[in-house]
Amino acid sequence: QKLDMDLAAIEKGGYDHFMLKEIFEQPQTIYDSMRGRLDAPKGTLTLGGIREHMDLLKNANRIIIVACGTSWHAGLVAEYMIEELCRIPVEVEYASEFRYRNPVVGKGDVIIAISQSGETADTLVAIDSAREKGAIILGVCNVVGSSIARISDAGAYTHAGPEIGVASTKAFTAQLTVLALIALKVGIEKGTITAQRFQHLLDEMNAVPDKVATALALNDQVHKIAEKYKDARDFLYLGRGYNFPVALEGALKLKEISYIHAEGYPAAEMKHGPIALVDENLPVVIVATKDSYYEKIVSNIQEIKARKGKVIAVVTEGDDTIPSMADDVIVVPAADELVAPIISVIPLQLLAYHIGVSKGYDVDKPRNLAKSVTVE
Ligand code: G6P
Repeated sequence: QKLDMDLAAIEKGGYDHFMLKEIFEQPQTIYDSMRGRLDAPKGTLTLGGIREHMDLLKNANRIIIVACGTSWHAGLVAEYMIEELCRIPVEVEYASEFRYRNPVVGKGDVIIAISQSGETADTLVAIDSAREKGAIILGVCNVVGSSIARISDAGAYTHAGPEIGVASTKAFTAQLTVLALIALKVGIEKGTITAQRFQHLLDEMNAVPDKVATALALNDQVHKIAEKYKDARDFLYLGRGYNFPVALEGALKLKEISYIHAEGYPAAEMKHGPIALVDENLPVVIVATKDSYYEKIVSNIQEIKARKGKVIAVVTEGDDTIPSMADDVIVVPAADELVAPIISVIPLQLLAYHIGVSKGYDVDKPRNLAKSVTVE
């Protein structure tokens, strides 16, 4: 008994839970997912697993991303990245829906399957049928040698290492990293981004691990915010543009870990329904880092404050507008909007973690959830 307990403690590396350990590993795992691929000072980017299929990728009619859960959220960010950098139309599909609705898919289509485990049944079956219809499959998996990785024509591993916590954290940021690298590589090869923008984004990617480490230093502050709001019945998460999927992911983390009802929305959609929920009891987490949507999100915050909602805002350092409006502010380092999700999701992971722990739940093994869902 004693030995078992010691072993478990050793595996957690001094952290109380695997989830927290994995959240804190992210500066390293993000670095690992770029290692041997990105050399920002030299201006080079190598992705061995997709090299052979570069022509197909560059000339794809469209890209269809299929995934489930957190991996699907990574796919939504990738849609914005690929459309911006590669000018290829992208659709993001829940693997389960894609598979059962007899989709129009065939030669010239590229499917990107995103999966931490590489074993999710819905994703596996979805790509299998798309492949039979002539599509090329590119796998973005974490587990080396997994089923999805094996049946893919090409791919790039995320190299985040084993993820034990059921709610995905470090696998998500590794997925975002690898998907950004893929979009950059295709964009530069295709000529849909300038050499200058390419180099700028390589430098931005290179700086992400340090910025994530800076965001992790906010742990104590996020813990206090968690204590303040842990008894809320519902949460709303809002973001725009690249941060919209981050809002979805923040809400999913909270649901999974703390069993609090949470919804993520694109901030502009608030006026079409969710604003009816806003009152003095509703905490609204707003991902409002400085980007091309900034002014718009400031007005969304005003709309919430006018209805007495509690605003917890994730903002960029140096912002002096939103902090004067929000109830709680979490300040993260500045980054290009394309890489910002990798940083802005960190405090949301920590918030879910601390709320779950403070409610006394087993955050590593949330009820009713499985790490890898191998049934359809
Ligand atoms: C399960 C896990 C989630 C994960 C999803 C997709 O629901 O609990 O954390 O995001 O499956 O898993 P995959 O391994 O395909 O990324």
